[in-house]
Amino acid sequence: MKFSSTSVLCLTLSFFLIGAQAKVPVDEQFRVVNEGGYTDYSPIEYNPDVRGFQPFNDNFRLCFYNTTPNAYTLALRIGNRAQESTLRWVWEANRGSPVKENATLTFGEDGNLVLAEADGRMVWQTNTANKGAVGIKILENGNMVIYDKNGKFIWQSFDSPTDTLLVGQSLKLSGRNKLVSRRSPSVNTNGPYSLVMEAKKLVLYYTTNKTPKPIAYYNYEFFSKITQLQSITFKAVEDIFDSTWGLHMEGVDSGSKFNVSTFLSIPKHNATLSFIRLESDGNVRVWSYSTAATATAWDVTYTAFTNDDTDGNDECRIPEHCLNFGLCKKGQCNACPSDKGLLGWDETCKTPSLASCDPKTFHYFKIEGADSFMTKYNGGSSATEKACGDKCTRDCKCLGFFYNRKSSRCWLGYELKTLTRTGDSSLVAYVKAPNANKK
Ligand SMILES: *[C@@H]1O[C@H](CO)[C@@H](O)[C@H](O)[C@H]1NC(C)=O
Ligand SMILES: *[C@@H]1O[C@H](CO)[C@@H](O)[C@H](O)[C@H]1NC(C)=O
Ligand SMILES: *[C@@H]1O[C@H](CO)[C@@H](O)[C@H](O)[C@H]1NC(C)=O
Repeated sequence: MKFSSTSVLCLTLSFFLIGAQAKVPVDEQFRVVNEGGYTDYSPIEYNPDVRGFQPFNDNFRLCFYNTTPNAYTLALRIGNRAQESTLRWVWEANRGSPVKENATLTFGEDGNLVLAEADGRMVWQTNTANKGAVGIKILENGNMVIYDKNGKFIWQSFDSPTDTLLVGQSLKLSGRNKLVSRRSPSVNTNGPYSLVMEAKKLVLYYTTNKTPKPIAYYNYEFFSKITQLQSITFKAVEDIFDSTWGLHMEGVDSGSKFNVSTFLSIPKHNATLSFIRLESDGNVRVWSYSTAATATAWDVTYTAFTNDDTDGNDECRIPEHCLNFGLCKKGQCNACPSDKGLLGWDETCKTPSLASCDPKTFHYFKIEGADSFMTKYNGGSSATEKACGDKCTRDCKCLGFFYNRKSSRCWLGYELKTLTRTGDSSLVAYVKAPNANKK
């Protein structure tokens, strides 16, 4: 009988605990089916069809959209719903796992937000079942939150950025520390570019299966000594003296008394509704919204790579700017290098294909004054020009190499992609090409 009294106590206790667990009131619950007419305006971005529903507020709404037939993304869009040209996408739940017609989004009594296919297969969830949730809402800053009876956030969309940070949203050491680009405007899978918060820096990387590690192609400057970044937040700050607005990336560093900051832009208007995004073209842009802005209500107030950049950070520095291969100047892909010289560029331009790794079967052609996206932020190795070439010759995966005659540094190219044409004759690129077939 000892056992049964203990288990009675346990039962009573667990019943009490379950009973005490707050539930989502019926009028806060919802279930939407991804079907029927397209109920929201079409944003200018990605040219999708859109079905909008609850929850929403003045500037944000939760929607299903598709850019390819029957492949829907659950996403938050920003902008005034009365003006379709103003709508842009700022958060998404299910990149790479689109749902089909008749998929459901359910926020039930248990407080879990669940995206499931029509057959019930779960695709995405907030993992908030039975954690005391009493409601869900979108805050004025675009953060969608599931909250408990004390107003504490049990889940927030700000914790799961994909390619975008809204004002107040952060990358975190103890959470998601990076943004990943979208494959293309129409294809919503992970693209090759990422913006990563590391211990001491914020870096743009290009990921390719040709190299074991991603290749850095840009580095943000903080102009302060950094020990260990805990978080980086996208911030809009109003100058109370002259009411101008500034946009920054602000880092909390465990070794610094004050936050570290990298400046982005000064929009001409209230910049509270702005976002920073790593876009599918590998560029980083800040979009700022205001009805006082241009006709589309959006101004691009910051661009990482611009073609008038005086430090040479033009779009030629973006790895796939010229797709597979091309020689680029001031953002223009204007030549396709070959062993017959520089040919006109088009999207078919590619590195020569080699039949074999045997050095007898290939040679190099040289491009004077050519630089690579990888040389500025990756150290390379110290070598003579000849030794650099020998290294590439011995390495089957090496497609060519870059050499700086001033600093005697050598970079092996496992991806060549976009080469920059510079006026600097100390920079030289060598590309492997097959020897002509001799009969
Ligand atoms: C979606 O559900 C509706 C109602 O049950 C049904 O008529 C329709 O055929 C379904 N659509 C698809 C594509 O399964
Ligand atoms: C530093 O940034 C964090 C996170 O955005 C913020 O909470 C904190 O107030 C900032 N500290 C200072 C001194 O500005
Ligand atoms: C800036 O815009 C936001 C969002 O529309 C608004 O809430 C805020 O009051 C504005 N701030 C000022 C100083 O006008």
